[in-house]
Amino acid sequence: MPAYELKDKVALVTGAARGIGFETARALVSRGASVVVVDLEAEAAQAAAAQLHDTRAIGIAADVTNRGALQQAVATTVERFGGLDVVVANAGIASRAATFRAMATEGFERVIDVNLMGVVRTVEAALPEIIRRQGHAVVIASVMAFGNGFGASPYAMSKAGVEQFGRALRVELVQHGASASVAYFGFIDTDMVHRALDEDPVVESMLTSLAKPLRKRLHPAVAGQAIVSGIERRAPRIIRPRRWAVMSVLRGILNPLSDRQLERDARIQAAARELDSRGGEEQPTTA
Ligand code: NAI
Repeated sequence: MPAYELKDKVALVTGAARGIGFETARALVSRGASVVVVDLEAEAAQAAAAQLHDTRAIGIAADVTNRGALQQAVATTVERFGGLDVVVANAGIASRAATFRAMATEGFERVIDVNLMGVVRTVEAALPEIIRRQGHAVVIASVMAFGNGFGASPYAMSKAGVEQFGRALRVELVQHGASASVAYFGFIDTDMVHRALDEDPVVESMLTSLAKPLRKRLHPAVAGQAIVSGIERRAPRIIRPRRWAVMSVLRGILNPLSDRQLERDARIQAAARELDSRGGEEQPTTA
């Protein structure tokens, strides 16, 4: 019997039309929860919900950069299912790799706005219900919260911010009988990874500097299951692939060493020069 039983609970997952969010919603439904799929487009959110369950899943359009839209999504959830117990602040984007100098300001700010402030707004909208029902919030960070984010500094900054937000939230929620988890993933095989990493030969060459075991990719269903079993345990941290947990524990020792290695590695510096020449080029984000 899990510490936190998901049967008959109500969950809202942002960015759930595909990828990790969709698989999290699927795993929640399989545990007997009702799920609200939130994503940018109503059609995609509704199509995802229709794949999950006839009555226990609905799809709603809301951009996490829009506070009012998230408040409306929570209001619709309460109206439809009677309350909200679990929120998974998952929606996130990556921009095309570039050095800070070469990166378009617009893309930089959009990544922070979606990945960090979007998570904050999502939790903010859900919090009164989460507290009222002594529920649980999951914020999706990444191993980039503690890895060096060169070439993707807004992404890494946003994830480090999400980690701090989730840790603080967890302590603050104890008095209310509610809880929070921070989820960290390495490489999960989703559209984001295909668009931001696989379609960029410079990024691909940079990744070869990472030890092979850390480059392992997991199916998004593994991430979804990990999130849901983390909710059932009210776990402080959810990390997959698990080998990244070692890197997280040892980050105080390993980070200065790897930062120095990145400064000195000729292949990495050649990639950094390429990323520095991307100023003025089109730099789309992954959603
Ligand atoms: P994805 O690109 O496959 O799915 C992201 C979903 O979020 C899409 O359905 C998209 O439409 C939605 N979305 C984007 N911006 C939105 C906005 N402003 N408002 C509402 N919805 C929005 O990406 P993936 O890989 O499933 O990522 C999910 C989360 O997991 C992100 O926060 C990502 O940073 C994080 N993550 C992913 C990793 C990976 O290897 N795929 C690794 C570590 C973290």
